[in-house]
Amino acid sequence: MKGIILAGGSGTRLRPLTATLSKQILPVYDKPMIYYPLSVLMLAGVREILVISSRDHSEMFRDLLGDGSRLGLRVEYAEQDQPNGIAEALIIGADFVGDDQVALVLGDNIFHGPRFSLMLGEATAALDGVALFGYRVSDPQRYAVGEIDADGRLLSLEEKPLRPKSNLAVTGLYLYDNDVIGVAKNVTPSARGELEITDVNRAYLAQGRAHLTELGRGFAWLDMGTHDSLLHAGQYVQLVEQRQGEWIACVEEVALHRGFITAEQCYRLGQEMAGTAYGTYVQEIAHRSGAMTSA
Ligand code: DAU
Repeated sequence: MKGIILAGGSGTRLRPLTATLSKQILPVYDKPMIYYPLSVLMLAGVREILVISSRDHSEMFRDLLGDGSRLGLRVEYAEQDQPNGIAEALIIGADFVGDDQVALVLGDNIFHGPRFSLMLGEATAALDGVALFGYRVSDPQRYAVGEIDADGRLLSLEEKPLRPKSNLAVTGLYLYDNDVIGVAKNVTPSARGELEITDVNRAYLAQGRAHLTELGRGFAWLDMGTHDSLLHAGQYVQLVEQRQGEWIACVEEVALHRGFITAEQCYRLGQEMAGTAYGTYVQEIAHRSGAMTSA
């Protein structure tokens, strides 16, 4: 499975923070925002990743992630000229995806909760069409909303409905089979002029091949579109990391645990950040993994 992180858009609601910076590079407590969706793809076992950003910001992501090899990944880059819609990521990424399945994740989404890796593994193994992840929210009209029956079967999907049929928001993580490239190419712009990801998902729904897994109450799903939600996300990460002593979206840790890098490589990455709590943590988990032959 290939992965795409969509990290474009103009971040207008975060101005002036985004006057010169990409939104998805902004700090969320101790790490750049893009680490959070990146860690999700890595947890799903994805090692080949395309980062799509606007032309102005592409260089920042290249500087940050390079070719991905330090994390045992292969990272490529592409540009989206205008924020023409989330589904456009699948058209821009068509050659990169080739004949593979693809996981698309929005660059401003945080997922954190128990058994998430397991859930991703199950959804990937059973993938037929699209696997969506739903989360109950108090303001569903801000999102795509899914309606499910008593057996958890998906009945409908609507983008930002004025009168939502449920409070189940569709999160910004989408796992697709390879048909999605053709499906995305057939989508036409919506009333707001965007290629809507919800239209892609509705095409699968019409074929009976859209599945939604609900992320339960113990789960945290956050998106960061405003100053307040950005700060809240940072506070959430700070609280959990300090209370539990376990880092959220530490990409070095995920790379180690998924076997993408060795303990020695992980330790060296930690050393480069010596003097920070993050760097110390990375060195510690390399040690804890028990596979160190030196250092
Ligand atoms: O966060 C989940 C929600 O994300 C879903 O429930 C909705 O179905 C989906 O449309 C989307 O809603 P948003 O209102 O959050 O979409 P927004 O336009 O804010 O874009 C989400 C992120 O994707 C944002 O960080 C910018 C980036 N983006 C967006 C568009 C439209 C791009 O990089 N390019 C784009 O063309």
